[in-house]
Amino acid sequence: MNVFNDHKKLYSIAGLLFITLTYLTVIMPALQNQRNNAPLPGSVPLSGDALAGKNVYVAEGCVGCHTQQVRNVDMDKVFGSRPGIAADYANLKRMNVWQNTSTVMGTERTGPDLTNIGARQTSRDWLLMHFYNPRTVVPQSIMPSYEWMFEMKENPSKTDVVVNIPASFLEGKTGKVVAKPEVLQLYAYLLTLKQTSLPEGLTPMEFLYKKAEKAAATGSGKLSIDGKAMYAANCQTCHQENGEGLKGAYPPLKGSPVVNGDDLELYVDIIMNGYDPRPEYASMPAVGTNMNFTENEVAAIINYERTSWGNAGKKVTTEEIKKIMDFVKIKASAK
Ligand code: HEC
Ligand code: HEC
Repeated sequence: MNVFNDHKKLYSIAGLLFITLTYLTVIMPALQNQRNNAPLPGSVPLSGDALAGKNVYVAEGCVGCHTQQVRNVDMDKVFGSRPGIAADYANLKRMNVWQNTSTVMGTERTGPDLTNIGARQTSRDWLLMHFYNPRTVVPQSIMPSYEWMFEMKENPSKTDVVVNIPASFLEGKTGKVVAKPEVLQLYAYLLTLKQTSLPEGLTPMEFLYKKAEKAAATGSGKLSIDGKAMYAANCQTCHQENGEGLKGAYPPLKGSPVVNGDDLELYVDIIMNGYDPRPEYASMPAVGTNMNFTENEVAAIINYERTSWGNAGKKVTTEEIKKIMDFVKIKASAK
């Protein structure tokens, strides 16, 4: 064969074959992938503090315990409003010239999924306390404390972010706990973690194996909303399981005049839009609005709080809450 004796021909044919195969098996699929999974219209690339915060997230190994992926199974519903799709990760860029793109999707879920933490938990006070020592707000937590992201200062300046840590966690230390830039960057990063809504006309994938379907199949009837579980998922980290709150940060709901009183409008407004009238407490984020609470859910939470820890408030109906919710939503959009 002439080809084997002519090195020019041999190398050209081999080279051409290599380029064609590379195109077919690598470049073409990659281009197609990029076309099919373009970043969602509403997603914003990370920048500034949030990007620096992601580096802290990677450096501290948070991915070892936290996932960032909502699977399409019903048990993942608490972590997002829809299952994740490839496009959710399309806006992530290389960390730098030396480090590849880090999606931090994770595989271990020792702690909760953080895909939507920027909607679920937005309180800076809470997150900083929790980083200083998770046990300050969640007594049973096994998450490590990240004390080295804070420093003690006798006289913090006006621009310093001071974190109110209960005295029992500060034994042998003097001064005030001040957040270092790293932890503020980490906070900025967590705030950006929320699901982008799909463009209009696209229906999200469904969550499979729903509890309600199971209930229907086993004939156990309509599944009502569990106020206790709603409280545990949305309120307990701050107001605590025993409803007693935390001194200097979160007020007690046990014996609270709002919980037991007649001003239902204020109560619903607090749940939907947050609350911050008193300097001696931290501020409450707009938990209900962030989590898209329905009137059923709000009623379930209120009824749970009004009948727990010795409280004796009047029970409410979904209809009562619905009327107030319409009004409270208008108030929120006017803010
Ligand atoms: C050893 C495993 C572990 C590591 C490492 C870890 N966490 Fe956690 N994390 C947990 C557990 C368990 C919880 C649930 C209990 C709690 O709230 O403290 C949690 C809770 C959280 C929460 C509250 C989630 C929610 O839905 O309320 C946030 C936010 C969080 N972690 C962020 C981080 C960040 C950021 C890092 C890295 C700096 C980190 N975690 C490292 C185990 C871990
Ligand atoms: C991130 C922490 C946080 C979470 C989560 C949270 N709250 Fe609060 N809540 C606060 C803080 C802080 C205040 C007090 C604000 C102030 O007075 O300045 C407060 C105040 C309240 C009050 C008023 C109590 C009183 O006696 O004045 C009610 C009622 C309340 N929260 C209900 C809820 C319910 C219900 C949920 C869950 C749906 C919830 N909170 C979730 C932090 C939180």
